[in-house]
Amino acid sequence: MFELALDYQYATIKDSLNGALFQVCPLDYKFITKEHEKTALKRVFYFIDAFLLFNNNALNLGKVPTFLAINKMSAIPFDKTDRKFMSMALGLARKGLGYTTPNPAVGAVIVKDGKVIGRGWHKRAGTAHAEVNAIRDAGSEAKGADIYVTLEPCNHTGRTPPCTRAVLEAGIKRVVIGAMDPNPKVKGGGAQFLRKKGLQVETGCLEGECMRLIAPFAKHMRTALPWVRLKAASSLDGRVASRTGHSKWITNEQARGFGQELRQWSDAILVGKNTALKDDPSLTFRKRGRPSKKLLRVILDSRLSLPLELKVFEVSGEAPTLVVTTLDAPKEKSRALEERGVQVVKLPASPEGQVDVRELMKFLGASGIQSVLVEGGAHVHGSFWDKGLVDEAFFFFAPIVIGGKEAPSSVLGQGVEKVSQAPRLHEVKCRWFGDNVLLSGLVSNLERFWS
Ligand SMILES: NC(=O)c1ccc[n+]([C@@H]2O[C@H](COP(=O)([O-])OP(=O)(O)OC[C@H]3O[C@@H](n4cnc5c(N)ncnc54)[C@H](OP(=O)(O)O)[C@@H]3O)[C@@H](O)[C@H]2O)c1
Repeated sequence: MFELALDYQYATIKDSLNGALFQVCPLDYKFITKEHEKTALKRVFYFIDAFLLFNNNALNLGKVPTFLAINKMSAIPFDKTDRKFMSMALGLARKGLGYTTPNPAVGAVIVKDGKVIGRGWHKRAGTAHAEVNAIRDAGSEAKGADIYVTLEPCNHTGRTPPCTRAVLEAGIKRVVIGAMDPNPKVKGGGAQFLRKKGLQVETGCLEGECMRLIAPFAKHMRTALPWVRLKAASSLDGRVASRTGHSKWITNEQARGFGQELRQWSDAILVGKNTALKDDPSLTFRKRGRPSKKLLRVILDSRLSLPLELKVFEVSGEAPTLVVTTLDAPKEKSRALEERGVQVVKLPASPEGQVDVRELMKFLGASGIQSVLVEGGAHVHGSFWDKGLVDEAFFFFAPIVIGGKEAPSSVLGQGVEKVSQAPRLHEVKCRWFGDNVLLSGLVSNLERFWS
C-alpha cells in the first residue's frame, strides 16, 4: 500500500509494504533538470502508475503531476548507502578520465558488511578493467560481497577477458550498476548474464552522473563524432580579453587549476589562430600528482599564416599538434610545418572561407578522438555555437569588469536572432573557486546516446 503526503515542495510517497520512501517534486517533469532526479521520478511514477492501475484511482494524487514518459525500468529504490558507495566508484572512475580512450572511464567499489574492502578503476586502455582491479584489491574477501560499478560490466572478450566472469568467479553476490552500456549490441548483456547466474543485479544507481561521466565514449560510439566541451573565462561583463587583446589572467589560479582538469578529461584541445598568436600558449596538460597524458593540440588557421616560432609548434609524443587549414593554404608553409613534426590537414572551406568545424569534427571522430576541449577565442566559440556543435559548456567568471566595445565577449559568431532561440544549458552546476565562479552544464541530451 502507498501512503502519500504532500507539503510545499515535495510529495512523499511511502510504500508501506517494503518501507521504501520516495520524494517527488510536484513540478512538471520537464522542469526537473538533474539526471538523478529524473531517474528517481521515473521509478516513483512507475509505482504510482502500477498503484493506480490496481487500486482504481483510490489515491488522491493532489498536486503530483501527470507523468508522461513512463520508463518501465527496474523499480528498485536506491538508498543513501547505495548512493554513497556509487559516489565513491564515480570518484575512482574520474581518476582515469582522459587516460582510457578508446575505452570509457569506469570505477568500482567492493563492499562487505558496510565496509569498503576493494577499490578499482580503469587506468589505461589495454590494462585491467575497474571491476577486476577492485576484485584484486579485495582478494578472497570479495566472496559474498556487493560490487558498485559505474558502468555495466562487459560480457565480451576485448583486449581483456569479460568482467562478468571475474565478478562471478570472485563470488560477488550483489551487483549495483550505474549506467548501462550505451552500445546497443551489448547493452543489458552483462546484467542479464549475471542475473542468470543467480546474482542480485540492480541497475540505475546515480545513473545520470554515471552516464555523464562516459558521455564522450557514448557519443563517439553512437555518432562517430567527438564530445565537445567549450571553456571560456570572462569578466562579469562577459569579456574574454581587453580591447587590446590582453587576457592574462582573468580568472584566479584555482579556477585555472580546474581548467587543467578539463584538459585531463579531453583527447584534444582546440584554439583559433588569434589565440595561438596573441597568447602563444603551450596548450599542454600540467597537473601535479596526475600522470602525464597525450593531448592533441588542434589549431585553426585557414591560410597557414601563423609564424613557425610559436610554442604549439614545438611538438613531442605527448603534445602533438594538428594544424587545420583550407584547400587554398600555401604548400611551402604546409611543408615547413610538417618538417617540424606538425600534422597539417586541409579541409574544404566553410561558406565564410574558414575551417569548416563540422567537417573537422568528422575528421577528429574518424581519427579516434572522443572528446575535444574548445578553449577559444571568441570567434572560434562563435563558430561552435552557431553550428550547434557544443555538448557541454564551462563558463568561468571573475569579479572584474573589463568593459569597452572593442573588447570581445566570450562568444562572437552570428549568434541567435531571438532570445528564445538561444541554446540553454541543463543540469547546470555552480562551483566556487575563491571569488571566481564556474557555471557549467550540458547542451546535449545524454539519453539520445543510450536510446
Ligand atoms: N578568456 C578566455 O577564455 C580566452 C580564451 C582564449 C582566447 N582568449 C583571448 O581571445 C582573443 C582571441 O580571440 P579571437 O576571437 O580574436 O580569435 P580566435 O577565435 O582565437 O581565432 C579566430 C581566427 O581563427 C581562424 N579560424 C579558422 N577557422 C575558424 C572558424 N571556423 N571559426 C572561427 N575562426 C576560425 C580565423 O582566422 P583565419 O581566417 O586567418 O584562419 C579567425 O580569425 C585573444 O585576445 C585571447 O587572449 C581568451
